[in-house]
This record gives sequence, C-alpha cells and structure tokens, in this order.
Amino acid sequence: MSPFTMTRTLPVDTTTAALREDVTDGLTRTPKRLPPKWFYDARGSELFEEITRLSEYYPTRAEREILIARAAEIADATGARTLVELGSGSSEKTHHLIRALPDLRAYVPVDVSESALELAGRALLTEHPELTVHAMVADFMNGLTLPDTPGPRLLAFLGGTIGNLLPSERAEFFTAVSSLLSPGDALLLGTDLVKDEATLVAAYDDAQGVTAAFNKNVLAVLNRELGADFNPADFDHLAVWNAEEEWIEMRLRARKELTAKIPSMDLAIHFAAGEEVRTEVSAKFREKKVRTELAAAGLESRRWWTDAQGRFALSLAVRT
Ligand code: SAH
Ligand code: TRP
Repeated sequence: MSPFTMTRTLPVDTTTAALREDVTDGLTRTPKRLPPKWFYDARGSELFEEITRLSEYYPTRAEREILIARAAEIADATGARTLVELGSGSSEKTHHLIRALPDLRAYVPVDVSESALELAGRALLTEHPELTVHAMVADFMNGLTLPDTPGPRLLAFLGGTIGNLLPSERAEFFTAVSSLLSPGDALLLGTDLVKDEATLVAAYDDAQGVTAAFNKNVLAVLNRELGADFNPADFDHLAVWNAEEEWIEMRLRARKELTAKIPSMDLAIHFAAGEEVRTEVSAKFREKKVRTELAAAGLESRRWWTDAQGRFALSLAVRT
C-alpha cells in the first residue's frame, strides 16, 4: 500500500442529492435551519482554519494545550497502533498526538472536505514518512466503516465538533462510534465547556468578521452547487447563547424581505424581513453530562483533562 491513500464513500452526485434534501427539509420549515456540514467546501475549510487563529476563538488553543500536556499519558493508556480521527480538518493539533504514539502504524483521517484531507495528508507525510495515511472522504453521521488496520485503535473526535450535533444525533453518534470499536479500543473526545456568555459569544462573532464570512459561505455553497441566487450581503451573521440548551446558535438573518430562487429544484424560498436560518449549534458541556452520554453508549470514561483555565476538556473513554 502506498503511504497515502484516499477513499471516497461520498460520491459527488449523492452529495448534491443530500444537499437538496437538506435544503428542501430545512428551508421550507419554520423556523428555518440547515445542517452544518455544508459549511466545509474548500473556502469554508480555509475560513475555519482562519477562525482557529483568531484571538477570540480560544477552543483550538485550549485543546492544543491539553494535547501537548497529555499526549504521553494518552499513548500509555491506549498503546494505539491505529489512530482514526473524525472531522479531522487540517489535522494540525493531531501532530502532537501522532508524535507521542510509539506504536502507531496507521492514521485514518475522516472528513467531508476533500481539500482539507489532501492538504493535511501531505503535511503529515512530510513529518511522519513512516506512517500509512488512509484518508476517507466520508460523512461520519452516515454508516461509516473503517479500513482494516491494526488494533488497538484510538478514535479521536476533537475541536468540540461533537457540540455541533443535536442531542439526538449525539446519542446516535456515540452508539455508532462504540460499535466501530473493539473492547479495549479508546475514544478521545474534545468538548468545549460551559462558561460566561461574553466569552462564548465573542468566540462565534469575532471583531474581524471571519466567523461571519464562514457562516455566510454556506449561501455561496447553495449558489454554486444548486444554482441558488442568495446574495450573502442580504444576511447578517448572529451568534446567540441559548442558556436553556447550553449551546451557541449561529444564525443568518435576512436584512429585508426577500425570495431566493433555486430553479434547479423548482423552489422559491421566502424570507420575511428579520427572518432567521439556524445554521449551527455549538453545545457546551459539563463533565457529568459527557460521562453520562458516553456511558449510555458503552463507553467508560477513564480520564478528564482540562486546560489551565478550565475552558475546554479532553476525555479518554474505553469501549467496555
Ligand atoms: N478537528 C479539526 C476541525 C474541526 S472543524 C479541529 O479541531 O480544528 C469540523 C470538521 O469536521 C471540518 O473539517 C468539517 O469538514 C468536518 N465535518 C463536519 N461535519 C462532518 C460530517 N458529517 N462528516 C465528516 N466530517 C464532517
Ligand atoms: N466545532 C467548532 C465549534 O463549534 C466549529 C466552529 C467554530 C464553527 N466556529 C464556528 C462553526 C463558527 C460555525 C461557525 O466551535
């Protein structure tokens, strides 16, 4: 096997079909909503990387701090020979983990963004030429299967991406992950933690407007993929803390009454002035909730580490 292979379980045409379905379902209901995976075309992945470098966006720095401090403990506790990473993006923080795992043979990054996987794969092989990298263009929410690589496996889900799933999706996801693992395999999970509202809102509404551009990029994806005629300038970016659900909601709000047309779908989407589309939630966690949800899927929490400021947590759980 060559050191870098890429498998696609998301054929390009079904990707468009899935987008059509999500648009039909999400933009013809009240209130309107879209699932977040459509943010991540090449431009969206680039904008996300820019977000991770913003002073307001603390989760990436906090998680990197924990990974650096705990990589050796993670290696000891897991003895991993395969590292699978879901929603791997640039895999930038993952280098700290890869360097610390002495028995690692295979790295399996899984992402919907092919451009992110390609860039990440190249960077990884430069630094770790001995590694077999088996990149997968796949939706981790939809029947993921893993290549046949040596165990024990460590499955990493970083960046707080778990918070972008709705609670029911989260339960489904943990069950699916648990069934991908064999007894003794481990899950490394990054969760952003509940904290003061001002810090949270700033992380999703930065002064430079990078997050606003990221949020509006989903409209550019609809224009390009479906031939829609959204004008991103007709929408405002919003980040709102929902204290009851303990999540940040990202929304796009129509600045005026408008109708967006998608001729390829024979669809016209009407927006009242001020009407909003929820484009993402980013749930914030507490330790007990993480433990309970993992346990419900047969994943037993063994470690809970936070950064020095207690903003973000990494948990290590094993499949029992
Ligand atoms: N792990 C990286 C990136 C987090 S951003 C970090 O911590 O910085 C979320 C990543 O998940 C993006 O790269 C996005 O393309 C990917 N993603 C989002 N939804 C996905 C899905 N349903 N299936 C696979 N990948 C997905
Ligand atoms: N998983 C990241 C998070 O919830 C994704 C993210 C960060 C994001 N900033 C964003 C998604 C802004 C949409 C908009 O923190």
